[in-house]
Amino acid sequence: MTPSADVNKLPPPRHIAIIMDGNGRWAKKRGLPRTAGHAAGAEAFRRIANYCRTLGVEYLTVYAFSTENWKRSSDEVAGIMRLLGKYLQEALSDMEKNRVRFRFFGDLTRLTPELQKLCMEAQNRSADYDVQVNFCLNYGGRDEIVRAAKNFARDVADGKYQPEDLTEERLSAYLYSADVPDPELIIRPSGELRTSNFLLWQSAYSEYVFLNVLWPDFGPEDLDEAIAEYHRRNRRFGGV
Ligand code: FPP
Repeated sequence: MTPSADVNKLPPPRHIAIIMDGNGRWAKKRGLPRTAGHAAGAEAFRRIANYCRTLGVEYLTVYAFSTENWKRSSDEVAGIMRLLGKYLQEALSDMEKNRVRFRFFGDLTRLTPELQKLCMEAQNRSADYDVQVNFCLNYGGRDEIVRAAKNFARDVADGKYQPEDLTEERLSAYLYSADVPDPELIIRPSGELRTSNFLLWQSAYSEYVFLNVLWPDFGPEDLDEAIAEYHRRNRRFGGV
């Protein structure tokens, strides 16, 4: 695809979220195991995270593993977890150079103790950096809202709040994404036209861009195209 000529002149969205979809189909097309597709997907993530930083995107949120992904074979799940562990280990050794802040959205308690430790170390050591990557790991949008409701109910039971104190802002503060602005743009590659339980609360006003490319093939020109589409929509509705 040809990048839009003017996309670089317009400020990018502050927060872009991506459903990294199509790894399995990418591998199947090449006669490779699904895990090879996820490995290529991890490379695509590296490429796009770097490009987002170049563009000045402040927050990048990626759907790395959903609450439903546990239904996959244990080999595939282990393969994805291994890739995440490898990525985090590298990120920890390059932390001072890259200065990327890591956050994790999801219930990490189901991950191995080793992976949980890497997540916590990455989150804690990067807390003062600015450009932020949010990894959705064992994440589901409904699960996130239920968890927030339970925690608010607990605070009501403890006498901290009354039920009528619940507002949209207060509920937002109980979500994994507390303090993170909502994404202006959500991208789903691979041709699927679903939200798949991703950022249900936060996506209320997001622009969705669906692209036909499989995630492992996703490159800077595809991000340019999605951002150009986002600006076209913004321009159409801006000022109305
Ligand atoms: C969806 O494609 C992808 C996933 C469920 C896993 C995403 C994980 C990665 C990209 C690797 C994680 C590592 C890092 C460092 C980000 P799919 O398997 O559902 O593809 P399909 O629909 O073609 O089968």
